[in-house]
Amino acid sequence: MDRIKIFDTTLRDGEQSPGCSMNLQEKIEVARCLERMKVDVIEAGFARSSPGDFESVSTIAKTVRDCTVASLARANTGDIDAAWDAVKCAADPRIHLFIATSPVHMEYKLKMTPEQVLEKTAAMVAYARKYCSNIEFSCEDATRSDWAFMAKVVETAIQNGATVINLPDTVGYTTPDEMRALIEYMISNVPGSDKVEYSVHCHNDLGMAVANSLAGVMGGARQIECTVNGLGERAGNTSLEEVVMAMRTRSGFFPNQPRLDTTQIYRASKTVYSIIGQTPPLNKPIVGRNAFLHESGIHQHGVLNNRLTYEILTPESVGIQVSNIVLGKHSGKHAFEDRLVHLGYQLSQEEILRCFEEFKDLCDKKKDVTDADIEAIVTHHSVRQEEAIDGYALDWFSVHTSNFTTATCTVSLKKGDEKFETVCLGDGPIDAAFKAIDQIVKPRNHAFENFTIHSISEGKDTLGDVIVKLSCNGRYYTGKGLSTDILEASITAYINAINKLCADAEQNQGKEVQ
Ligand code: KIV
Ligand code: ZN
Repeated sequence: MDRIKIFDTTLRDGEQSPGCSMNLQEKIEVARCLERMKVDVIEAGFARSSPGDFESVSTIAKTVRDCTVASLARANTGDIDAAWDAVKCAADPRIHLFIATSPVHMEYKLKMTPEQVLEKTAAMVAYARKYCSNIEFSCEDATRSDWAFMAKVVETAIQNGATVINLPDTVGYTTPDEMRALIEYMISNVPGSDKVEYSVHCHNDLGMAVANSLAGVMGGARQIECTVNGLGERAGNTSLEEVVMAMRTRSGFFPNQPRLDTTQIYRASKTVYSIIGQTPPLNKPIVGRNAFLHESGIHQHGVLNNRLTYEILTPESVGIQVSNIVLGKHSGKHAFEDRLVHLGYQLSQEEILRCFEEFKDLCDKKKDVTDADIEAIVTHHSVRQEEAIDGYALDWFSVHTSNFTTATCTVSLKKGDEKFETVCLGDGPIDAAFKAIDQIVKPRNHAFENFTIHSISEGKDTLGDVIVKLSCNGRYYTGKGLSTDILEASITAYINAINKLCADAEQNQGKEVQ
């Protein structure tokens, strides 16, 4: 029986949406999560779009072994050359080529006639096929295209060597019945359809992306394109966790299952949210804080008698460990390591030791350390590592503030063996601290987009998790800080964001974005 393939485009369609940009290290971290989760295809980026994208696609192609790695390319030789250059070292490389087929896109965006689109399809699929035997071809805006014309385009693509045909609902316009009918129409009307795999790629503008993707599968599609947490242009894409758990939970309807390891879903979701500096809406299916909570008396009563009354899937099936175990200052390294393993983290001995030191520091400030605290320590650990190697790190700070004087903050930062100290006034201690950091680092002009603080667990002594988002020239930089002292968390989050802004400026200095 044909398995359903999961094509993850978090690093391309997800990453290109506003506020979701990631640096190279973060993209590699996401790619590792995707490989662990056993997605079939990772669309690692759009190699031609910028030097940074090229580098990340090619690094991921060299790093990932158990998934196909794809790069997007428009239907032109420059894009195809760059895509191939970036993915050629992958264990299983794929070029994902697209051209628009809807009247509105052909006339106003491409300024091409339908005949020209047909010719371009033939020439560019044949060109890409000379490089690579795994060619995905997408008809952009398929759901607003003329079906008979699109059938000719698809036939041309197949004749010239395409192996996967993707029919995207680019603007989230279709309905489940229509999506199913479209796939059925193509499979029965296009010669050569039995030699290729059909794929769906649904956007969520009307909230139907998951339903439309599942309908596509019912119509015969064998690949679903989706993103972790449903990230993507505008209202996002099909959410990986929702579409996969729908197929698992309703396996009677979906006998062709994906190979995905669903117990990795929660971790992947948390990793992606943490990198882009967001938290899931409380009621987000599968990964939201309330997804497995039962609040009303009637529901609680039912669940206590039998979970099946109100629970159609278990938290454990998506990797959420439900436990009441808390650690404290008497817990040793073994107990800590044991919790890490239980939570699904495989860290090196060196990383365990560093996290254990932070855990011990936390135990001095907080009586009970929960699983959420431990996860936060591990997630933030990589931030501190980055700073220790490349960027500025907080040495110490001191504030003076009240509700009747101007706040003052003295900040000392270190970079390598050097130390820098300055003092600034501000409209509150955070403003004063951020001004002092700017005065030391002198970063490029940037806009301050967002600042959030949320508590990791319950209680007044909880860890504060601070996210700072900055933007510069259309790119976003997310910084994270974690401490029981929210001022310290805010300062470290700001330094983290500023370090990323400076690193990006250095990396792309003198290089032109194509
Ligand atoms: O939404 C879309 O049409 C796309 C294609 C480029 C596959 O992302
Ligand atoms: Zn898309």
